[in-house]
Amino acid sequence: MAYMDLREFIDGLESHGELIRVKKEVDWNLEAGAIVRRTHEEGLPAPYFEKIKGYPDGYGLVGGILGGSKVNGKWMPFRRIAIAMGMDPDSPTQEIIEEYIRRKNTPIKPIVVSTGPCKENIRLGKEVNLFEFPAPMIHDGDGGRFLATWHVVVTKDPDTEWVNWGMYRGMIQTRTKLAWLALPMQHGPAMYYQKYRDRGKSMPIAFALGTDIYSTFAACSYLPAGINESDVAGGLAGQPVPLVKCETSDLYVPANSEIVIEAEIRPGELIEEGPFGEFTGYRTSERAPRTFVRVNCITYRNNPILPMSCMGMPMDDSATTGSISISAELTELLRDQMRHPIRGVYNAPEGSNALLVVSTKVPHANFAHKIASAIWSAKAGIFAYWIMVVEDDVDPFDLNQVIHAMTFKCHPVRGIRQVEHYPGMPLDPFLSLYERHYGLGAAVLFDCTWPKDWAYTPIESSFHGIYPQELQQKVLANWKDYGYK
Ligand SMILES: Cc1cc2nc3c(=O)[nH]c(=O)nc-3n(C[C@H](O)[C@H](O)[C@H](O)COP(=O)(O)O)c2cc1C
Repeated sequence: MAYMDLREFIDGLESHGELIRVKKEVDWNLEAGAIVRRTHEEGLPAPYFEKIKGYPDGYGLVGGILGGSKVNGKWMPFRRIAIAMGMDPDSPTQEIIEEYIRRKNTPIKPIVVSTGPCKENIRLGKEVNLFEFPAPMIHDGDGGRFLATWHVVVTKDPDTEWVNWGMYRGMIQTRTKLAWLALPMQHGPAMYYQKYRDRGKSMPIAFALGTDIYSTFAACSYLPAGINESDVAGGLAGQPVPLVKCETSDLYVPANSEIVIEAEIRPGELIEEGPFGEFTGYRTSERAPRTFVRVNCITYRNNPILPMSCMGMPMDDSATTGSISISAELTELLRDQMRHPIRGVYNAPEGSNALLVVSTKVPHANFAHKIASAIWSAKAGIFAYWIMVVEDDVDPFDLNQVIHAMTFKCHPVRGIRQVEHYPGMPLDPFLSLYERHYGLGAAVLFDCTWPKDWAYTPIESSFHGIYPQELQQKVLANWKDYGYK
């Protein structure tokens, strides 16, 4: 079953024990953020705040709807993603990744409808007021109230039919101005905006908040250039996403969105943005002049529900969604396109998008370097600062095995390839302030495979590695007789 609007997904999560309705009044000023943050760190159900201080009854705020969960003390980072995809919530990670790949490769184009719930209220011109919605002050020390942290940003290439959906944070500056952060390696805001700016033209832009879950997931997925995320959203849902035209531009947005902000970016205009508690788990980027949007119109559903993400330490929704989409993209690239003998690729959510494990057979010398070079050139590898290539006897989804392989198969000097000039960004905590400012990043490969020029490789001292086959079978056959279950 597909959840074609936010309200259906809220009900779906609740029925699986993955969401609770908070009836008690909650303050948008830090209190809601602190609650969402704690649920991420404890793996607790997502909170849906039904009463927000200072806002009309019916205006809601929901946080962390694709965040990770803990079941019986064990992390299950992808339960809510599996629920969204109509899968068994306890599906193994690799199955969720393979299902994501399958659906992504069965794209379904959206349908255009003449109107939709997001048009129930229309605010134009002087009526526009971004403070009309309970935008939270999410973390202490944030530069302002962030209205857009879990949403779809729509922009269009001025030269082709490529329409980009992405997710880039938006901070309220005034009633009609939303400052935002779009990293330079992003598609719509970077590639398209440069074209509009160089031609001296305003770039139309729309923020759709509280869409169906597939549109939002597709927007924050690490898809290659040229792909319309709307088609991928349809593929993930198994049905087309209904789109409706904006009031003040030719952009189309999901018709079932809770709130739609229609705006423009004028060439070269900048305003102060940030800081913010970020996906790396730190508040890193400084307040700085960044592009901003001028809002021309807001449309919204009756009793709008604003979704929010409270990024920081894992397992929040940026760690989990990034994990599935990056793992899927790089599995496809390395295994299906480059035809390498890959067992699995895992962007571990514990590393908040930046830690990548590749398990593979090793067909020739220095193969790990080939793998790393391919990843570092891909869109899905933009945050792959740490790559570990392990042999296919190591399960990439079992970090205990990965850490052991790194500890004893990777030579502490020769097994490591450091890349000084990897593109970085203002959010990278390990860079100096100067390096953050200019995007002077770094990356590293840990080659945890045995060198090909060794005549002898160490025998693994494990049950399966060091005992004769017949003895293993005998021990397993007699296992219960020894008194074990
Ligand atoms: C909750 C969340 C917030 C995000 N915020 C930003 C942001 O503020 N700026 C940014 O450049 N990327 C942000 N991202 C990452 C992008 O959404 C992601 O890189 C996506 O692939 C960008 O799409 P694009 O490549 O089509 O531009 C965020 C992701 C998530 C899950």
